[in-house]
Amino acid sequence: MIVGVMSDPGFRIRPASRDDFATIERIAAANDEPTTAPRWPGYLYLDHLLAEAALLVAERGGAVVGYAGAAVVGGRHPAAHVTDLFVDPAVHGQGVGKHLLRGLQLEVDAPAWTTSSSADPRALTLYVRAGMQPLWPVLYLDLPLGLPAPDIRGDAWPGGRPSSRQLDPGSASAIELAWSGRDFAVQYRHWASRPGGLAFAVEVDGRPVAVGAVRDGRIGPGRVLDHLAIAPDTDPVAALVAALWSTAVRISPPEPAPEARLTFALPGPHPAVAFVLRNGCRITDHDTFCASDPDLVDPARTVPDPSFG
Ligand SMILES: CC(C)(COP(=O)(O)OP(=O)(O)OC[C@H]1O[C@@H](n2cnc3c(N)ncnc32)[C@H](O)[C@@H]1OP(=O)(O)O)[C@@H](O)C(=O)NCCC(=O)NCCS
Repeated sequence: MIVGVMSDPGFRIRPASRDDFATIERIAAANDEPTTAPRWPGYLYLDHLLAEAALLVAERGGAVVGYAGAAVVGGRHPAAHVTDLFVDPAVHGQGVGKHLLRGLQLEVDAPAWTTSSSADPRALTLYVRAGMQPLWPVLYLDLPLGLPAPDIRGDAWPGGRPSSRQLDPGSASAIELAWSGRDFAVQYRHWASRPGGLAFAVEVDGRPVAVGAVRDGRIGPGRVLDHLAIAPDTDPVAALVAALWSTAVRISPPEPAPEARLTFALPGPHPAVAFVLRNGCRITDHDTFCASDPDLVDPARTVPDPSFG
């Protein structure tokens, strides 16, 4: 555990408290990544990080000038995911980010590290130097909820049609753990606690082929697929399409407003990228997934949450 003064004179890296939230939010918003939203109660996201993850701030001259977070994914292949790394734009490029990331790596004892890096060359530089290799783009996609389901190859589901149902977060994370060796139990609880949030499974003949978490949009109408894991022996294109058009994902609102969208992230190498782009999805932005172990995450079997993996 680190608490206190880092080697560089002038910076103090320390654990955050709730008293820092207003300043953290100001720094996040100044970097166009606010942590609060009109449809979210209070500091939902920061409260989760404070309770279940590592959340550090950097102080200079007694003022908080940056913050960083890391959340552990447990299981057979444990790893820490850098959730946040943001510095006050007034002091970008002065070493604050480097000290925050070093502080996280001292605070969190994990054998592997992952993150979704922004395109900021300073961010990528810090992650690569810290041992995380840039592996693939994380594409942010947006799909009008009113679009009908596209046709999928007739032989995609020989055993029957897929259906979906709500699961308790613990059951969803247990299924994913059995498939991938990665334990997102803490994250599933948080995803399901978000407004309109629930964990769900897509099943064929009673057998789960995908599990995930979905919720309402933070700002406008629509749904956000926070995370999805696809079974190892399942066609990843068919499973993704089944999830995107499932009742569980689209449960509210029943009659979507014309402008309502379903948003989600997809790894660039996921085999469904071309299919969804041909069928109404639009790319709104992209980051770069970085990991210290290139085999930790199978990009064909996941819809990653940029904040939690
Ligand atoms: C990314 C960010 C957190 C980095 O923090 P920072 O305090 O600005 O960065 P630092 O000064 O600690 O370190 C940046 C390093 O990158 C180096 N660098 C800058 N531009 C570079 C480039 N184009 N290529 C290689 N290295 C570069 C700097 O020289 C510095 O290294 P040094 O200290 O050894 O000289 C901060 O700039 C930020 O908040 N950016 C906007 C938000 C964002 O994108 N956050 C990342 C979310 S994933």
